[in-house]
Amino acid sequence: MKLFSSVHDVTDINALVAEALKLKQDPYAHQHLGKNKTLGLVFLNPSLRTRMSTQKAGLNLGMNVMVLNIDKEGWALELQDGAIMNGTTVEHIREAAAVMGQYADIIGVRSFPGLKDREEDYSEAIFNKFVKFCGVPVVSLESATRHPLQSLADLVTIQELKTTARPKVVLTWAPHIKALPQAVPNSFAEWMCKADVDFTIAHPEGYALSSDFTSGATITHNQDEALKDADFIYVKNWSAYEPYGQITGGNEDWMLTNEKLAPTNNAKVMHCLPVRRNLELSDEILDGPNSIVVHEAGNRVWAAQAVLKQMLESL
Ligand code: CP
Repeated sequence: MKLFSSVHDVTDINALVAEALKLKQDPYAHQHLGKNKTLGLVFLNPSLRTRMSTQKAGLNLGMNVMVLNIDKEGWALELQDGAIMNGTTVEHIREAAAVMGQYADIIGVRSFPGLKDREEDYSEAIFNKFVKFCGVPVVSLESATRHPLQSLADLVTIQELKTTARPKVVLTWAPHIKALPQAVPNSFAEWMCKADVDFTIAHPEGYALSSDFTSGATITHNQDEALKDADFIYVKNWSAYEPYGQITGGNEDWMLTNEKLAPTNNAKVMHCLPVRRNLELSDEILDGPNSIVVHEAGNRVWAAQAVLKQMLESL
């Protein structure tokens, strides 16, 4: 594997999930693969889980790991081709990415959307420039439109904890006070549509995701109906795709509570984290027996390790 930016870069998702679960049982079995290899993790935005889990995954594989918070510690990056750099930007992404490729055998990049210009965000301009100019394999640590390491960890978690062959999985919108990207729900939907699950998306009117990511899903505005008989509930806020990046306010009654769990199949509740308590998800859910959010975050290591292993094997 030379690129991990979406589910479309994976030839066999079931095999990748199985690989992740195997690595969970025997984390240090492949340290020879990473010996004298360097993983460079580049963050243009904040992170706790992605940073630490991917770092740990690289270390488990015997790699050296370097982390650069380029938004805070690097030179201000110019992203536009042809720019006359007489403003605040100091280094062009062409040189910056190419230089990083001299120091690292595999590069991870996190780059969030601006949520102002849909065409620019959905073209993945920044992430694709890293891929184009760094010259080494690249793994997405969350881009403008997708978060594939999160989605792989989510599928690993569902596979690990499911009690029926084809579980019902519901992605439900949750309230928030800020406009958040569509990357996590886009990506989760894209992976679930390829997995052997019965997949439903529930959101208030005005929050439809791009149909490019949801083909095959059942989509409804009725959360109660969607939650009926659910085995897994994936809770996430996102801003509107149309009008792009907007939030309408209201819909506070979409926050998941124990009462809403009653008609489910004792559903396990997932969230990618970080989560705002009692806004997106109630204390009673997060502190109750149905929450698997910490277990899910733990699986980020094995998802990242499975991907890095495949990349190391292709070097
Ligand atoms: N879920 C996730 O990506 O967490 P971080 O933003 O903390 O990395």
